Amino acid sequence: MKTHTIGIIMNGVTGRMGTNQHLLRSIKAIREQGGVKLSADEVIMPDPILVGRNEAKLKDLCERSGVEKYTTDLDSVINDPHYQIYFDSQVTGRRAAAVKKAIEAGKNIYCEKPTGTSTEEALELYEICTKAGLKNGVVQDKLWLPGMLKLKRLMENDFFGEILSVRGEFGYWVFEGHSVPAQRPSWNYRKEDDGGIIVDMLCHWRYVLDHLFGKVKAVSCLGATHIEERIDEQGKPYKATADDACYATFELEGGIIAQFNSSWTTRVRRDDLLTLHVDGTKGSAVAGLRECVTQHYGNTPKPVWNPDIAQPIDFFDGWAKVPEQELFDNAFKAQWELFLKHIVIDTPFPWDLKEGAKGVQLAEKGIESWEKRCWVDVEEL
Ligand SMILES: NC(=O)c1ccc[n+]([C@@H]2O[C@H](COP(=O)([O-])OP(=O)(O)OC[C@H]3O[C@@H](n4cnc5c(N)ncnc54)[C@H](O)[C@@H]3O)[C@@H](O)[C@H]2O)c1
Repeated sequence: MKTHTIGIIMNGVTGRMGTNQHLLRSIKAIREQGGVKLSADEVIMPDPILVGRNEAKLKDLCERSGVEKYTTDLDSVINDPHYQIYFDSQVTGRRAAAVKKAIEAGKNIYCEKPTGTSTEEALELYEICTKAGLKNGVVQDKLWLPGMLKLKRLMENDFFGEILSVRGEFGYWVFEGHSVPAQRPSWNYRKEDDGGIIVDMLCHWRYVLDHLFGKVKAVSCLGATHIEERIDEQGKPYKATADDACYATFELEGGIIAQFNSSWTTRVRRDDLLTLHVDGTKGSAVAGLRECVTQHYGNTPKPVWNPDIAQPIDFFDGWAKVPEQELFDNAFKAQWELFLKHIVIDTPFPWDLKEGAKGVQLAEKGIESWEKRCWVDVEEL
């Protein structure tokens, strides 16, 4: 058996995303399954070192993940040639400086979104990384959600006819913390700490739209800070200075219109935390994180407006669930496996730092639209 051992510096791994999605559900799972299989007798085995500030947390994570190595000093490992990949899931504001340092040390880069706090900063990372001849990738996990992959299959099989519009509903109630503790980090609600739902979610909507439906050409966006005071991790009240909801419309190349509501101040009465409702001339579909339901032209009810009688049609009845036709792995793990293959056998990996910069660009344009109260064009990067 030939084993390609790939050293990975994992920074920010004590955080919510770093711990749950990247370490436990991706790298630990890949190691436990015996690596990423390339052929019957060839595998890629990730060999991580965990980086963070808190030694106790790192030790605990090592125990939970079976990883042996950790350090609180990034500089002590950044030049170690054993590590070919630098991974970053720190808070957004720390990403660009750390990634730059890793590029200077000759590491291939894989990191969370947003890749920078401005388009300029994010694009610079792409430029210096590619100039240095290093491989790079950005997390675009939603593309590997089973629900999104089912949508993609429907499109590949021309289920929709001409797609007219896409309606995205994302969000749930994030507790303020006064009585029930909050379930997201407090920096998400402070603009001065790079928080805000526009920056967070428009990065995702950019790649979902670009890759599934058509390139985003223009945006109209209205943000809001609906809840003005929240309680932080230390139990102290703080002023929420960042947007906690955003209401955005996008024009796509090819004429599709997309509307996305993103909110941490809404209560869910829909199929999932994220749903995409796609309407086409021949059929419609609604995808959640895992499931997808469809309604074909032939099953489309013909309602007549009449509020004087009880609604005779059960609108939920006319939808059919897409059955499980394929096995889907965890979305973050699926993308990690593709990135590791890209590193070792050079398979294509189009989800690079330039794609990451496009996400930051859309967030920036969304904020510009909100501030100017107008449509803003999204030019090609
Ligand atoms: N892909 C996705 O779906 C998704 C979802 C949520 C968050 N994210 C992104 O992932 C990143 C992390 O988000 P999170 O929710 O895990 O946040 P978090 O607050 O739980 O974790 C942040 C990490 O950064 C580290 N950190 C913070 N300040 C630091 C400092 N001064 N010095 C060194 N390290 C420091 C923390 O120790 C922790 O490891 C963010 O950029 C966020 O936008 C992505």
